[in-house]
Amino acid sequence: MTSITIKPLSPALGAEISNVDLHAPISPATLAEIKQAWDAHLVLRFRGQMLSDQNLLDMSRLFGELDPPGPNPYGKPFLEDFPEINVISNVKVGGAPIGNLGDGEAVWHCDMTYVESPPRAALLHALEIPPSGGDTFWSNMYLAYETLPDEMKAKIAGRRAIHDATYNSAGMMRKGMNPVTDPRQAPGAHQPLVISHPDTGRAALYLGRRRNSYILGMALAESEALLDALWAHATQPQFSFRQEWRLHDLILWDNRCTLHRRDSFDPETRRVMHRTQIKGLALTAFAG
Ligand code: SIN
Repeated sequence: MTSITIKPLSPALGAEISNVDLHAPISPATLAEIKQAWDAHLVLRFRGQMLSDQNLLDMSRLFGELDPPGPNPYGKPFLEDFPEINVISNVKVGGAPIGNLGDGEAVWHCDMTYVESPPRAALLHALEIPPSGGDTFWSNMYLAYETLPDEMKAKIAGRRAIHDATYNSAGMMRKGMNPVTDPRQAPGAHQPLVISHPDTGRAALYLGRRRNSYILGMALAESEALLDALWAHATQPQFSFRQEWRLHDLILWDNRCTLHRRDSFDPETRRVMHRTQIKGLALTAFAG
């Protein structure tokens, strides 16, 4: 018997889950349905969930152990009482940012792939949204891999790439990092270009972020050309879903088989999102 309602949000990925109250304890049966929908749709949207920070933490823990936010440019957690929560915001109080990423575009990426074991998932809760702009997009990396031409699949089979740790998706340098002049020397984990998803076993293209990426063992020019082609393929509109935020939307996404990016918005408006992430495992290459 189904208790939740699942409405797909695009042909490629994303589904809206309704008929569930995220403040109340969720039964094991309902949680199993949500997890099944998540495996199928990769990104889940829950609308009208006015969650406190504690609710957000409790809800996030249903999907695994929390992973603390990565280092931000300011070197300390944004919420003293909830250091597990990252704040994504352009708002400043007394000249000091209350959150990360500002109001500019955040380029396509998946989160923290520059560490050996990147988060498996993230949850983003909309607390204040601008009247327009600031939409977020996700792209399906299973589809991206499955639709790659065979010769591209052959070129990347068994290959690894550097996932640069230097800059965040808004182009801000992380604390303690130095500018990178040669991508071959970029600091960060070396990840397989095609992973086997730890839960589904399906092959997914695993690109991390474009800036300072480098395919190990290739001439730099060859690596640059192949990465440009892979990124152009992976970020095509037919693989993606666009989220136009409403207040108290909560989005849960699988960080292993999706990329995401965000549009810029008017700096004179306010956008405040609270975000958690769930610990993941080191990823293994897809064996074919
Ligand atoms: C992020 O990249 O985690 C932030 C996405 C957003 O601000 O919508």
